[in-house]
Amino acid sequence: MSEIKTVLVTGGMGYIGSHTVIALIEQGYQPIIVDDLANSSPEVLNRLKIITGKDIPFFKGNVCDKAFLEKIFSSHKIDAVIHFAGFKAVGESVEKPLEYYRNNLDSTLTLLEVMTEKGVKNIIFSSSATVYGTPVHVPLTEEDPIGTATNPYGTTKIMQEKIFTDYAFVHKDFNIALLRYFNPIGAHPSGLIGEAPYGTPNNLMPYITQVAVGKLPRLTVFGNDYPTPDGTCIRDYIHVCDLADGHVLALKKLAQNPGLVIYNLGTGKGTSVMELIHAYEKATGVKIPYVIAARRPGDVAENYAGTLKAEKELGFKAKRTIFDSCADSNRWQQKNPKGYN
Ligand code: WQD
Repeated sequence: MSEIKTVLVTGGMGYIGSHTVIALIEQGYQPIIVDDLANSSPEVLNRLKIITGKDIPFFKGNVCDKAFLEKIFSSHKIDAVIHFAGFKAVGESVEKPLEYYRNNLDSTLTLLEVMTEKGVKNIIFSSSATVYGTPVHVPLTEEDPIGTATNPYGTTKIMQEKIFTDYAFVHKDFNIALLRYFNPIGAHPSGLIGEAPYGTPNNLMPYITQVAVGKLPRLTVFGNDYPTPDGTCIRDYIHVCDLADGHVLALKKLAQNPGLVIYNLGTGKGTSVMELIHAYEKATGVKIPYVIAARRPGDVAENYAGTLKAEKELGFKAKRTIFDSCADSNRWQQKNPKGYN
């Protein structure tokens, strides 16, 4: 068993990162946040202080900057890293492939180099169900093959998993957890932190919450002619606080020196777009006007997680319901109609 106490959280000011920082503190860990604020707001630190009562060490900088990272590792005894930092907008990655490959791959390569120099051997990587590509069947399990992504963002996730896998092959003393998230939604029940995409949201839930607060007039449903019960796409929507809890369980797993491990983090249940709209209206009492439009290129009909391995080996099971997610997302957006600005 290795003792893990101090955890470096790259991208810890982001949506999933900030929720994970809260879970770490609640479970007795000491997080240190590194974030370049390219896709997050410094206000998140104030909100984390209100929620946790703690002053969390935060260092502004880019994980690709080796000198910056070396300084952090030299001035703190870091036991493990959770690596969230990276660009993550599917559409943007198609427009800016070089920035995505440079940023997402360089950050991981630099991090592994510095961890090795400093003798830090435990890391959790924020991966994604997107690595499976177009599912050949559902539910998707960790034994299913890695597919080909339909966009550079997804390809960087596949490539980063390969970097970790090849590294673990020669560095048997490294403990690496690849966590494949399905569709994170929801927010901390305080309503103080949540998903705050810049510009018009690409993802379904933040689009719905902006319709709910009147920032956007209506939702456009991308296709209702899929081979699913109501014709709209099915996804595995997992509450971000369940996702955060899953990271703490993965940290406990790394302390057992497992080497490289891979887990899906999902609920194991599929929810269609129409079902999510209705759940939101039921959970919040807010009507969500929508129109049906053509399919969005690249969307798959159905995608949800096989959860047995995470349940058996991590003791992970999503606890919050789709209604909890809708109510929590709504509370966040109602309290922060302009996000963190
Ligand atoms: C869900 C469903 C849309 C918006 C993406 C990334 C994936 C991961 C999670 C990072 C689809 C429909 C959406 C809208 C709609 N991100 N939709 N109207 O595409 O499953 O996954 O986010 O790892 O990599 O690809 O999530 O929320 O974009 O879409 O009808 O305005 O909602 O067609 O069926 P997706 P999503």
